[in-house]
Amino acid sequence: YEAKIDLADMEKGTYPYYMLKEIDEQPATMRRIISEYTDETGTVVIEEPLLQSLLTSDRIYIVACGTSNNAGWASKQIIEGLANIPVEIHLSSEFGYNMPLLSEKPFFIYLTQSGETADSRQVLVKTNKLGYPSLTVTNVASSTLSREASYTMLLHAGPEIAVASTKAYTAQIAALTVLAKAVGEAKNIPAAEEFDLTKELGIAANAMDIMIAEKTMIEGIAEEYLATTRNAFYIGRSEDYYVSMEVALKLKEISYIQAEGFAAGELKHGTIALVEEGTPVIGIITEAVTAPHTRGNLREVESRGAHTLVIASEELSKKGDQIILPIVHQFLRPLVSVIPGQLIAYYATLLRGYDVDKPRNLAKSVTVE
Ligand code: AGP
Repeated sequence: YEAKIDLADMEKGTYPYYMLKEIDEQPATMRRIISEYTDETGTVVIEEPLLQSLLTSDRIYIVACGTSNNAGWASKQIIEGLANIPVEIHLSSEFGYNMPLLSEKPFFIYLTQSGETADSRQVLVKTNKLGYPSLTVTNVASSTLSREASYTMLLHAGPEIAVASTKAYTAQIAALTVLAKAVGEAKNIPAAEEFDLTKELGIAANAMDIMIAEKTMIEGIAEEYLATTRNAFYIGRSEDYYVSMEVALKLKEISYIQAEGFAAGELKHGTIALVEEGTPVIGIITEAVTAPHTRGNLREVESRGAHTLVIASEELSKKGDQIILPIVHQFLRPLVSVIPGQLIAYYATLLRGYDVDKPRNLAKSVTVE
């Protein structure tokens, strides 16, 4: 599993910043994951001992930080939907204390692009001591968390240099989709048997290409909404909320705009007090059941002066929605709905004249607790 660090990857080439290069590399990474984890018949293949260990687990704990934690949230529905195993997502730094394990056969998944995050490793040391099986999903072969976990799945995303993680986020969701499909199929779960990984991940990769081609439109949106604002909200429900958390983190960590990813239905319980004339509020709408409710929340904030923007799936879009997402499998919507927010953060940062790849106060891998 040696990830070939292709020297070409280390070169920005014609890109002004690594982050833009890495955003562009996401569709290719999806296709790479398909080829790495399927055999010549298209059957999804993961390491047999890993599969067997997951087949006996009654609860999966995903432990991660930052963007990787957000990827865990976006993957919860996929694992529960395809593999029928309950999933809990925990922030590494919050999980190391009392570990209320409410299961006989827990399985720990550490999501970590670098494989070196100290907060995550401190939990892995504990779960190793307790004898629990673990998988590290990482972009760096032979990293600490890879070496110390029971199993490893590589993201095959190529080196991610920009501090703001983009391709690792979508690669982690894709890798967990591979895992969920393999386990669900082994358990003869109909949803897993019906889920054609190669087809659906391929469709998602094409949809990502379409969104990535919208750079000029998205640059204009960043200029219109985020050039001078002090704060901003992304809102959504369920998976759209989880993606809101990720794109808010992107915006915060490189443009320094105080952004929050917020549960749309929760705004009225207090936080809406922060909305004032001109506050940008960006709604993510990719799910039919929640769509009308999130649109209602957008109207609520509009009546308080918010400057609203809608990112909606094609089949749910309405006249006036600014960013339309191609249709993909319901489980894979986060792979596409995250792209506009990645690009919005990139262009908002350029507008403000900050260093996209090396934001203040931040390191690519946080190797201290
Ligand atoms: C994400 O853009 C940040 N760079 C940061 O939150 C990062 O995701 C976090 O530190 C976890 O890093 P890891 O995936 O290497 O463990």
